[in-house]
Amino acid sequence: MRGIKAAALKPLIERKSIRKFERKPISKRILEKLVEAGQRAPSNCGVQAYSLIVVEDDEKRDLIFEAIGRQGCMEEAPVWIVICCDWARPLKLFEMLGVDTELGQTYKLVLGIIDATLVAMNIVTAADIMGLGSVFVGSIWRSPRKIARILELPANVLPFLLLCIGYSSESPPKRPRWPLQAVMHENRYIMPDGRMMRSYYRGANRALLEMNYFKKGVHSWAEHWSRKFNKKDMAPYEKNLRESLKKMGFLP
Ligand SMILES: Cc1cc2nc3c(=O)[nH]c(=O)nc-3n(C[C@H](O)[C@H](O)[C@H](O)COP(=O)(O)O)c2cc1C
Repeated sequence: MRGIKAAALKPLIERKSIRKFERKPISKRILEKLVEAGQRAPSNCGVQAYSLIVVEDDEKRDLIFEAIGRQGCMEEAPVWIVICCDWARPLKLFEMLGVDTELGQTYKLVLGIIDATLVAMNIVTAADIMGLGSVFVGSIWRSPRKIARILELPANVLPFLLLCIGYSSESPPKRPRWPLQAVMHENRYIMPDGRMMRSYYRGANRALLEMNYFKKGVHSWAEHWSRKFNKKDMAPYEKNLRESLKKMGFLP
């Protein structure tokens, strides 16, 4: 690839999640630019089923901490953006226009999450290009209804990701990825063989150990995943998530 093209891809190829931030605010002008870039993401039928709630207010932040717990990156980041899939606004417009629709709950969930996630990732890339760092926090899934109440979201709006943004004060190493051959298939799916799996896992695990990724008492990615996704914790998590999504009208 010619040098100039490789350089253009740098914001994507070199992107890393950032969890430590300078105590420096982000101007409204920059935030608006980020959201504008986010909005250029493709959208199913052009409905743009998303809303972005910028949270800088300390009282709201405290309520969100209470609802989903604290993480260092949340405490440090000057700006949070709560990413929501939002059918309330498109449906209101449909109603005004007399557009007769019958959107199923699962459709609203899946397509809304696709639309909103594409916007979120555009914002991450735009932030990187503008010299800002960011990290997603997924724990909103633990209490989407509480977050909806705190942010005064109407029915048909589902908060599902929190994006912490700020000026980076760290330069972490790149985290591992599967080799290209494992994720890119030609015309048909081929499961990587055991040798490739082991070789990927060993290399990735070594890299993570070197960057002190694991919490105290955890020595491997396998151990990390076993703790994180264990049956005992996952079953109530799944139950709570289903119930929340049903109550919010995003699952039948
Ligand atoms: C849906 C989602 C939820 C995430 N939640 C968290 C989180 O709660 N805390 C955190 O520190 N990182 C979180 N991350 C960031 C991942 O840990 C990170 O992307 C992954 O370790 C790969 O590292 P990289 O982004 O630097 O390549 C989340 C990422 C995604 C996509």
